[in-house]
Amino acid sequence: MASKDWRKSVVYQIYPKSFNDTTGSGEGDIRGIIDKLDYFTTLGVDYLWLTPVYESPMNDNGYDISNYYEVNPQFGTKADLEELLEKAHARGLKIMMDIVINHTSTEHHWFVESRKSRDNEYRDYYIWKDGTYDTPPTNWESKFGGNAWAYDEDTNQYYLRLFDITQADLNWENEDMRRDIYEMINYWIDFGVDGFRFDVVNLISKGEFKNSEGPGKEFYTDGPKVHEYINELNRNTFGDKDIMTVGEMSSTTIEHCLKYTNPERNELNSVFNFHHLKVDYPGGEKWSLANFDFLELKKILMEWQVAMDEGGGWNAIFWCNHDQPRVVSRFGNDETEENRLLSGKMLAIALHGLKGTPYIYQGEEIGMTNPGFNRIDQYRDVESLNAYSILREEGMDASLILDILATKSRDNSRTPVQWDDSRNAGFTEGMPWIEVSDKYGEINVARALEDGDSIFYTYQKLIELRHELDVLTYGSVKPHLMKDDDLFVYERLYEGERITVMANFRNKEVPYPENINAEGEVLLSNYADRKNVLRPFEAMMIYGQNN
Ligand code: NOJ
Repeated sequence: MASKDWRKSVVYQIYPKSFNDTTGSGEGDIRGIIDKLDYFTTLGVDYLWLTPVYESPMNDNGYDISNYYEVNPQFGTKADLEELLEKAHARGLKIMMDIVINHTSTEHHWFVESRKSRDNEYRDYYIWKDGTYDTPPTNWESKFGGNAWAYDEDTNQYYLRLFDITQADLNWENEDMRRDIYEMINYWIDFGVDGFRFDVVNLISKGEFKNSEGPGKEFYTDGPKVHEYINELNRNTFGDKDIMTVGEMSSTTIEHCLKYTNPERNELNSVFNFHHLKVDYPGGEKWSLANFDFLELKKILMEWQVAMDEGGGWNAIFWCNHDQPRVVSRFGNDETEENRLLSGKMLAIALHGLKGTPYIYQGEEIGMTNPGFNRIDQYRDVESLNAYSILREEGMDASLILDILATKSRDNSRTPVQWDDSRNAGFTEGMPWIEVSDKYGEINVARALEDGDSIFYTYQKLIELRHELDVLTYGSVKPHLMKDDDLFVYERLYEGERITVMANFRNKEVPYPENINAEGEVLLSNYADRKNVLRPFEAMMIYGQNN
C-alpha cells in the first residue's frame, strides 16, 4: 500500500496563467486552483507544482521574478496562496513552488541597484563584464536568440542574460547573494510549502568567460562549482526537512545527474533532463519540421533509465510541460478522435511504467492537443516571437516558420485548460490572454470525466498503480527490442515481481513480440481484449512473477 516515501509520488504541473480564471481577467489565478482541488483528488496526484506566481513583469510568464517574497497580483494575494496551501493540505495534497535562482528580472531591486553604478553594493550580484560598444564580452548565444550579453550604456558594461534581455543572470560567486537566496527559500519553507522545482539550476555556476565555437553552453552548463553550490543550498535550506526537490537540468549529462541526485551527496531528490524531447530536432535544430526519431527516443530514455537506476540516482519522468508541445500531437496521433484516445493512453502507459517520479502537465490527462495556430498574432511566447523574427531575418518563408511554430512553440502547451464545452472552454468569463484551442468541444475535462473510457481514467489508474505497486517505484529497468521500429517494450523487476510494458507507437498492426515475458495479469490496456497482434497504438501493462 501507499507509504510515505516521496518516491511513490506523482506530480501535477499547473501553469496558473492558463489554468482557471475566477476574475474574468482572461488570466488564470490562485483561486482558480483552489476551485479545482477536488479534481486533483479525483485524479489522485500527490503534489501540485505551480510555475512561478511571484511578482514579475511577466516577460517570460513569471520566470522573470522581480520580487521573490510577493505574489503577483494578477494571480491573487498571499492570503490566496495561504488558503490554497491549507485547503490542499486538508485533502492530502502537497504544493511545490517553482524557484528561479539562475536569474532575476531586471526589475528586481537587486538589479535596479546593480545597474546604477559599478561600485553599487549589488553590482556584484550579477555578472557584469567589459566589452566594446559593438563587441560583447563573449560570443555566447542566449537561449532565446541573439547574443547572451546586454549592453548597459550608463555604466558601459555588459550583463549576462542567458534567457531574455530582462532576465539577468545572478552571480553565484557572490556569497551575500547566495545568503539572500537561501533566506528567501527558507521564507517559503516557513510559509508551509512542501517542495521546490529549481529552474535551470545546473546553469548557476559560470566557468570561464571565453568565446565558444558553438553557443557557449560548455562554459556554464553543469559548471565548475555547481555541485558545491547546490550542496550548500541544500544544507542551508531544505536539506533536513520533508521537502521534495527537483532540479531542471539544461543540456546535462547522466554523470552529473547521478551526482545531483545521489542521496549521499545532499543535493537534490530528482532531476528533469530533456534529451528525450530533442528527438525531433534534426542536427540539434529545434526550429525545423521533422518527424520524431523513435529509435533515438527509446535509446535515450533507456540509457537514462538504466544508468540512473544502477547508479542510485532519480529521474523525473515526463512527456510534457509548459515549454514543450503537446505529446499526443508530437509522439502520438491527433488526426482522428479514435487515434487521439488510443495514442494518448498508449503514451501514458509507456511513460508511467518507467522508474522515477511521474509528472503530468495540465491538460495532458485529457489528451489536449496542439491548438494548430496559423498566424503570428496568435502567439504570446517570447521565445517563439524571437524565433519568428530571427528566422524571418534569415530569409525563411513566413508560412514555413508558422508551420514550425505550430509544432514546436511553447505556446502549444500554454493555451487554456479546456474545462467544458461552454464559451472559452469554461476557462474565463473574459477575453483569454491566449486563444483557447478550437478543439474544446470534443476535448474537455467535463467530457473526460463522464466517459469511463477516457484518457483521464488511464492516468487515474496509473497513479493508483504507482501508489500500490512497489515494483513500479523500486524495480530495476530492463529494456527490450531496442532495434524494433514500432514497439517500446521494457520490464521492471523487483523482489520476484515483474511488470512488463508493451507499447505500439505506430498507427498499424504489428506482430506480437516473441521472447517477451508477458505472462500474468493485464493491469491496464487501451484495448478491451488481447489478440495475437498489437493493434494501432495498443499498449498494456502486465503484472507477473519474475522467475
Ligand atoms: C525554464 C522554464 O521552464 C522556462 O519556461 C523559462 O523560460 C526558462 N527556464 C528561463 O527561466
